Amino acid sequence: MAFYRNFFEHFHHTGALAPSGPKLAKHIVKAAGVTENSHVLELGPGTGAFTHDLEKTLGSAGEYLGIEINASFHSHLQDLHPELHFEQAPGQDFDFSSWIEKHGQFDVIVSGLPWAKFPEELQCALLDNVVPRLKEGGTFVTFAYTGVHLLKPAKRFRKLLDDYFADVQRTHSIMLNFPPAFVFVATK
Ligand SMILES: C[S@@+](CC[C@H](N)C(=O)[O-])C[C@H]1O[C@@H](n2cnc3c(N)ncnc32)[C@H](O)[C@@H]1O
Repeated sequence: MAFYRNFFEHFHHTGALAPSGPKLAKHIVKAAGVTENSHVLELGPGTGAFTHDLEKTLGSAGEYLGIEINASFHSHLQDLHPELHFEQAPGQDFDFSSWIEKHGQFDVIVSGLPWAKFPEELQCALLDNVVPRLKEGGTFVTFAYTGVHLLKPAKRFRKLLDDYFADVQRTHSIMLNFPPAFVFVATK
């Protein structure tokens, strides 16, 4: 419980009152089209709300890299998921070159980042650092809280998705999440 309080205490980075629920986790992993062979980048895995479902879906041929800025979340994730690889870093600064040299580009990027809390420079710096690491035709998924998506920074992020991707779709809202949320599915 103390660990989950950490989530709220680091609101400036988490941008959420609580981790995402299991229904949203299943929905985002399915919407991302992750298969047992996928090569997945997860941005902001936090307490591992999506990581658990990603690990269950990935087979032995699948590959996973998680980038988390928060040191306690990072060590908790590495303890919980010893088979997966995590780096503690801001996603906008992480140097992907040696990972890409060894594993190739990603098939899928799953983002748990609170985009609606970020200024435009940070939204662009993150997209500039990760979108070039995604294969052509690869999928980028992220969620938005229903209602919050109408706020200015969220609308600005939605426009950026159109600039960075060939196609952007949104799913229905998952009402059983707290707060309700939907998923953007963007294709490069
Ligand atoms: C809204 S929480 C989501 C956590 C989890 N994916 C979920 O849905 O419950 C956002 C997470 O992104 C991390 N984060 C925020 N800014 C980041 C950045 N620039 N680079 C990497 N991780 C970041 C936070 O520490 C936090 O764990």
